[in-house]
Amino acid sequence: DDKGDKQMTFQLMLAVGTAVIGSLQFGYNTGVINAPQKIIETFINETWFERYNDPITETTLTSLWSISVAIFSVGGIFGSFSVGLFVNRFGRKNSMLMANVLAFAAAALMGFSKMSSSWEMLIIGRFVVGLYSGLSTGFVPMYVGEVAPTALRGALGTLHQLGIVVGILMAQVFGLKSIMGSATLWPLLLGFTVIPAVLQCALLPFCPESPRFLLINKNEENKAKAVLKKLRGTTDVSADMQEMKEESRQMMREKKVTIPELFRSPLYRQPIIIAIVLQLSQQLSGINAVFYYSTSIFEKAEVPQPVYATIGAGVVNTAFTVVSLFVVERAGRRSLHLIGLLGMAGSAVLMTIALALLDKHKSMSYVSIVAIFAFVAFFEIGPGPIPWFIVAELFSQGPRPSAFAVAGFSNWTANFIVGMCFQYVASLCGPYVFIIFTVLLLLFFVFTYFKVPETKGRTFDDISAGFRQSSATGGEKHSPEELNSLGADSQL
Ligand code: GLC
Repeated sequence: DDKGDKQMTFQLMLAVGTAVIGSLQFGYNTGVINAPQKIIETFINETWFERYNDPITETTLTSLWSISVAIFSVGGIFGSFSVGLFVNRFGRKNSMLMANVLAFAAAALMGFSKMSSSWEMLIIGRFVVGLYSGLSTGFVPMYVGEVAPTALRGALGTLHQLGIVVGILMAQVFGLKSIMGSATLWPLLLGFTVIPAVLQCALLPFCPESPRFLLINKNEENKAKAVLKKLRGTTDVSADMQEMKEESRQMMREKKVTIPELFRSPLYRQPIIIAIVLQLSQQLSGINAVFYYSTSIFEKAEVPQPVYATIGAGVVNTAFTVVSLFVVERAGRRSLHLIGLLGMAGSAVLMTIALALLDKHKSMSYVSIVAIFAFVAFFEIGPGPIPWFIVAELFSQGPRPSAFAVAGFSNWTANFIVGMCFQYVASLCGPYVFIIFTVLLLLFFVFTYFKVPETKGRTFDDISAGFRQSSATGGEKHSPEELNSLGADSQL
C-alpha cells in the first residue's frame, strides 16, 4: 500500500482545494484593511460630519479605525470557540457549507456600508467575517487532517496556511489605489468576500465527508470505505480502515471529551498545553504587527514607497509558505518550528537596529525592509503553518473538536491583543518595540525545544499513544531526542 500512501488523487485535491477557500477568505480579510486605511478613514470622517455637523476628533477617528481592524479578531475568538458545536452534529463538510451564510452577510454589510453612510455596518461586517474566519481556522485544518494520508498530512496541512497567505497577497494587490483601493471602489474591495463564498458553496457538494467522521462518529463503515477508496485511489483501504478502527476503539473508552476535561485529564494535559503554546508562539511572534500595520511601519522607517514594500512582504510570505510545503514532510515539524522562531528573533533584532540608527544612516530604511522580509520568511518556514495543523495531529478523534476550540481561542485572543495594542506600544517604545517580540520568540524556542515531540510520519493513534505513555510514567520528562526517536521507531 506504499503507493496509495503518497498518492495525490483528484478527490483529495478537490476536497483540500475546496476547504482552503475558507483559509483564503480568512487571509483576504486579514490583509484587506492595511492599504486603504486613509481612504476609509476619510469616509468615516465625512459621514460623521454629515450626520453631526461637527468634525470628528482625532481620537474618535483612531478609535473607530482600531475597532474596525480589531473586531475581526473578536469575531474570530467567538467563531473558533464554537467549532465544537458544529463539527460533530452536522459533520465537517456541512459545517463548512453552513458557515458561508456568515460570509454572504458580511460581504453585504461591508459592501453597502458606504452607500448607506454607515460605518457601523462596516464594523459589524468585519465582526461577522471574523466569525466565519474563526470557524474556518477550526473546520479547515480538522477536515484536511482527517482526509489526508499520513505521509502527506503536513504538506496538505500547510495548504491551509498557503490559502491564508495567498488571500493576504490578493488583498494587498487589489487594495492598491490604482485597482480597488480608491475612494469610490473600496466598498467593492471589501464586498469581494462574496466571490470565495460562492465558489466554496458551489464546490462543497462534490466533496466527500471526512471518512473518520463517517466511521468513528457515525459508525457508517460502508460509506467510510467508499469515500476512502476515492480519496486514496486504491481499492485496498484496509490499512487506513484498520487505523481508524483503532482510533475508534480508543474513543469508545474516551467518549466525548469536553473542554474542561481536556485540562483535567492527565492524558490530555500535555498535548493541550503544547497546542496552546504553539498558537501563542505564532501570534506573539508579532507577525500581525506586520500584516496589519506594515505600511505605517515602513513609513516610519522612511521607505519611499511603503505600499510596495507591504506587497513585497506578501510575496515573500507566499514564497516561503511554498518552501515549507515542500520540506515539512522531510525536515519535520519540530525542527522547522525551531529554525523559524530563531530566525524571527534574529530578524527582530536587525529591525530594532535599523529603526534605532535611522537618524544617523539613511540606508537603514533599506535594512528595515530586509529585516521585515526575513522576519516574514522565517515565520512561514514553521511558526505560520505548523501550529494550525499540528492540533489535528496531537489529538485523536474524541478530544479533537474541543482541542481545536481551545487552540483557536488562544490563537485569536493573542491575535486580538497584538492588533489592538501594537500601535500604542509602538508609540511608547519607539524603535525598541520589536525587542518585546525577540524576548517572546526566544522563550517559545526554549519551550519547543524541551516540550514539542516530532509528529512527522506517525499515525494519529501512535502520537496519542506516545502521550498516554508519558502521562503514565507521571509526566516524566523526555529528552527531545527520545521524543524524536519515538517517531522514527514507529516508521520502521
Ligand atoms: C497565520 C496567522 C495569521 C497571519 C498569517 C500571516 O495564518 O494565523 O494571523 O496573519 O499567518 O501569513
